[in-house]
Amino acid sequence: MANIAPGLAVVIVGNDPASHAYVSSKSKMAKECGFTSVQHTLPEETTQEELAALVQTLNVDETLHGILVQLPLPKHLNSEPIIQSILPGKDVDGLHVVNAGKLATGDLDGGLVSCTPAGAMIFVKRTHGEDLSGLNAVVIGRSNLFGKPMAQLLLNANATVTIAHSRTKNLAEVCRNADILVAAVGRPEMVKADWVKLGATVIDVGINRIAAPERGEGKTRLVGDVAFDEAAKVAGVITPVPGGVGPMTIAMLMANTVIAAYRKANCPPPKF
Ligand code: GUN
Repeated sequence: MANIAPGLAVVIVGNDPASHAYVSSKSKMAKECGFTSVQHTLPEETTQEELAALVQTLNVDETLHGILVQLPLPKHLNSEPIIQSILPGKDVDGLHVVNAGKLATGDLDGGLVSCTPAGAMIFVKRTHGEDLSGLNAVVIGRSNLFGKPMAQLLLNANATVTIAHSRTKNLAEVCRNADILVAAVGRPEMVKADWVKLGATVIDVGINRIAAPERGEGKTRLVGDVAFDEAAKVAGVITPVPGGVGPMTIAMLMANTVIAAYRKANCPPPKF
């Protein structure tokens, strides 16, 4: 692929400080990778029509291979039509129904896979190998961005998969059955040591900001969905927060952008 710089556009609407932090890490990493990196920062009062028009502009821009609209959008905006208006070939979040459908039908090489599950799957495969036959995997959380695609990836690798969520009965008991436990619920330190099977692989996808008075008045710190210190005593492998899945998500976003650029140039993309 001669002389083509992969191009990534990241769009953020509104003032959520955590989203701004995530988006600037994404744009910065794209720059560091030598990509064409553009960030569109839109005000809270942006209309549905204005956002839709921006996506159309990005869709037809030949220098851009990936488009990411940071979620959640402000409440007055409807995210689904925006996400579905991104060209599937540029949907580096893997949220377009074409990409979600390819993943669901086992076509892992034809579409684009959501970055956080793709990154988490790298941890899983590094620990257990490519074939998860005979292993029980439990994913807590059923979002389109994470829980569902994570479950599909695990299933595709032959794991026996349970998707647990807020309505699941006896959640601790379900989790104790997991050789691979993936938590994506958004509840600080909810998964305790006695939810974890001895030697299990635990992947913590939560990023929760909690008060940390021990660091001084008004201070906060980031924790995951897993009570790390106690769970680490039981788990075989466990990912920390921060520093575990987060950096992998950004890495996979770069990977998806490279894949999209290769495909646009009709070249076989590298595998990650
Ligand atoms: N918000 C939190 N994680 C993500 C992500 O991976 N993609 C988008 N678009 N929004 C997010």
